Amino acid sequence: MAVFSVTLRLVAITLLSATLSLAHPGFNFGWGGHGGIFGGSFGLFPEFYQFSCPQANDIVLSVLQKAIDKEPRIAASLLRLHFHDCFVQGCDASVLLDDSATIVSEKKSGPNRNSLRGFEVIDEIKAKLEEECASTVSCADILALAARGSTVLSGGPNWLLPLGRRDSKTASLSASNTNIPAPNSTLQNLLTSFNRQGLDEADLVALSGGHTIGMARCTTFKQRLYNQNGNNQPDETLDKSYYLGLKSVCPISGGDNNISPLDFASPARFDNTYFRLILWGKGLLTSDQVLLTGNVGKIVELVKSYAEDENLFFDQFAKSMVKMGNINPLTGFNGEVRKNCRRLN
Ligand code: HEM
Ligand SMILES: *[C@@H]1O[C@H](CO)[C@@H](O)[C@H](O)[C@H]1NC(C)=O
Repeated sequence: MAVFSVTLRLVAITLLSATLSLAHPGFNFGWGGHGGIFGGSFGLFPEFYQFSCPQANDIVLSVLQKAIDKEPRIAASLLRLHFHDCFVQGCDASVLLDDSATIVSEKKSGPNRNSLRGFEVIDEIKAKLEEECASTVSCADILALAARGSTVLSGGPNWLLPLGRRDSKTASLSASNTNIPAPNSTLQNLLTSFNRQGLDEADLVALSGGHTIGMARCTTFKQRLYNQNGNNQPDETLDKSYYLGLKSVCPISGGDNNISPLDFASPARFDNTYFRLILWGKGLLTSDQVLLTGNVGKIVELVKSYAEDENLFFDQFAKSMVKMGNINPLTGFNGEVRKNCRRLN
């Protein structure tokens, strides 16, 4: 009975969707939302562009593949962009807006300035999508698709990705400063920050595993090398030989923009070595290493289980990415589909 009614709902929605998409391209049931006429679970759904732009994901993947061939790190930069979008007013592409008469850009916030990358790749994807399906695929969905594509093309898991986000008409510099945790956060602070977004311990640990690819600047880990606790001593949880190597990349004065891999064993490969390195005291950021040393809830056990079993990590990462991607999306008549991700229509 339950199965039957779900099937019936899907059929009804598919038929309606086909009709409405023709009448109003891009409309696509965005109104599902909480307590909507479909009972609340159809706010975002994987087939959102099935009729209005079926080739959307292929376009994203082809631009990504070229960009990653040129510079493997770009996959990491794009994965991070989606995170920094979702933690600030939800996954609404607010992070992509440039300064303008009405917008104070999030690009200047502490966590983002001199740090976020990949905006040109998003521009290129958007331009191609506008050529093929004008005013249809939102910038917020492009960020979600690019994050998934970057994960897959780096060797990580794939997942069914709910779509249908719309783009904000606002940005929040202040929320960008307060909502995105600092690299020297305590484990309790990290968890509080994730809890505020509806994410739990397993999400925090699995999503931190995004640090299996990409780089960080010296300024984000310098404190650990020279003055971790205000006593002019290094972080004692750092492996000694790893510490010596980091000091050569990140001197006590200057060198702030020198970069080091978050997972030095395989910086361009999406795998579970990030967790194995943490077990050996070779996590780069304080926020990475405290997953082992911070002693909160079941977090240590999760780190160990992901270090041991890559499939377990991949499954949880996929689930947690969907959860993060569902943070407070704009749907229906809220927001807009920007033609250029950097500015309002
Ligand atoms: C748990 C809290 C987190 C903290 C404190 C944190 C902090 C940081 C910092 C400081 C950097 C280096 C930035 C720079 O030097 O310019 C970084 C890079 C990165 N972060 Fe996180 N992050 C967190 C969670 C996440 C999540 C949830 C994801 C995605 C699922 C993610 C993905 C990345 C990636 C891929 C990079 C490398 C980017 C690149 O190479 O361009 N991070 N993160
Ligand atoms: C983290 O770093 C910031 C900026 O460098 C600093 O002001 C703050 O005191 C540090 N927090 C901790 C817990 O060390």
